[in-house]
Amino acid sequence: MSIVLVSTARAPEKWASTLKGKNKSLDIQIYPDVQRPEDIEFAISWKHPEGLYQSYPNLKVIASMGAGVNHILKDENLPEGVKVTRIVDDQLTKDMSHFVLLQCLAVSRNLFTHLQDQESKTWKVKSYQTPEKTSVGIMGYGVLGQAAGNVLKANGFDVKGYANSSKIVDGVKVFGAEEQDEFLENTQVLVCLLPVTSETKGVLNLEVFKKLKPDGYLVNVARGEHVVEADLISAIDQGVIKGASLDVFQEEPLPESHPFWSHPRIQITPHVASMTDPESVANQLLENYKRMKNGDSLLNEVDVNRGY
Ligand code: NAP
Ligand code: GLV
Repeated sequence: MSIVLVSTARAPEKWASTLKGKNKSLDIQIYPDVQRPEDIEFAISWKHPEGLYQSYPNLKVIASMGAGVNHILKDENLPEGVKVTRIVDDQLTKDMSHFVLLQCLAVSRNLFTHLQDQESKTWKVKSYQTPEKTSVGIMGYGVLGQAAGNVLKANGFDVKGYANSSKIVDGVKVFGAEEQDEFLENTQVLVCLLPVTSETKGVLNLEVFKKLKPDGYLVNVARGEHVVEADLISAIDQGVIKGASLDVFQEEPLPESHPFWSHPRIQITPHVASMTDPESVANQLLENYKRMKNGDSLLNEVDVNRGY
């Protein structure tokens, strides 16, 4: 019985040594150096090659190295009946909240405009917005959305949420999918923390940007597939919204020729809003490995039909 680590982008050796440090007897194989595919029952995965999991006949669980699972579910050749889990981790959640707070403060204090003025040695005083006057709408009010909402609220921001179903969470009004217009009309800074599903792909489009309050701004920390790229560029160029901070892209690394790189109103970070620390998540992965062996229900299992 063994575990396979599949990731070319996230150093698998570090994950292997962390897991081994917790349990020396684990049998871990690192893709592509897999000697006994028939032994593999549990995969720990980040952006695997499409169709790979068909080659492990006894695979039972694919555990995402991150909170998102779209990189697993987009594979049309996943073995029938395999379970998929994701990471829910306090450190990852806290790091995301801090990143979202950083972006919202930067927008309300005109930081990106001042950094641009510095390039041309321009001394231009511009009045800023207080957090209380800055309405932030978080699309996707799940684990990460709620944590970011609470941190923003604690810093004075006017926070609203948007999810599949309407609810009140820690005093924050969360609009349901059928109330999207009302949510957008009450939002200046739109933060995307949705999972990628057939319903959410392309959700960040021109029609949506047009509904935001004046001086709208996009912070996308979810996935590149949520954005209609051409719409975003025209929305900014036409003054529909002020700009965007993008941490995630349809193609990563973002190709050198991509127009986002040189757009003066687009801020780019290389998918670093929140990065899984193997040390912090090893216990939940090993707990799920144990549960799988005992036939128990898994922690943080996703609904593969729903997509999150
Ligand atoms: P989660 O707990 O599963 O939350 C998902 C939220 O989205 C829920 O509130 C859900 O609504 C809502 N939702 C799903 N489909 C919807 C739809 N069609 N319309 C409206 N709302 C919808 O996910 P999470 O842990 O917060 O993570 C969110 C995403 O963040 C991940 O999928 C990943 O892509 C991204 N992420 C990015 C980074 C980074 O470094 N940039 C790091 C970690 C994660 P209900 O509450 O009504 O179900
Ligand atoms: C990162 O993008 C994650 O899904 O954890």
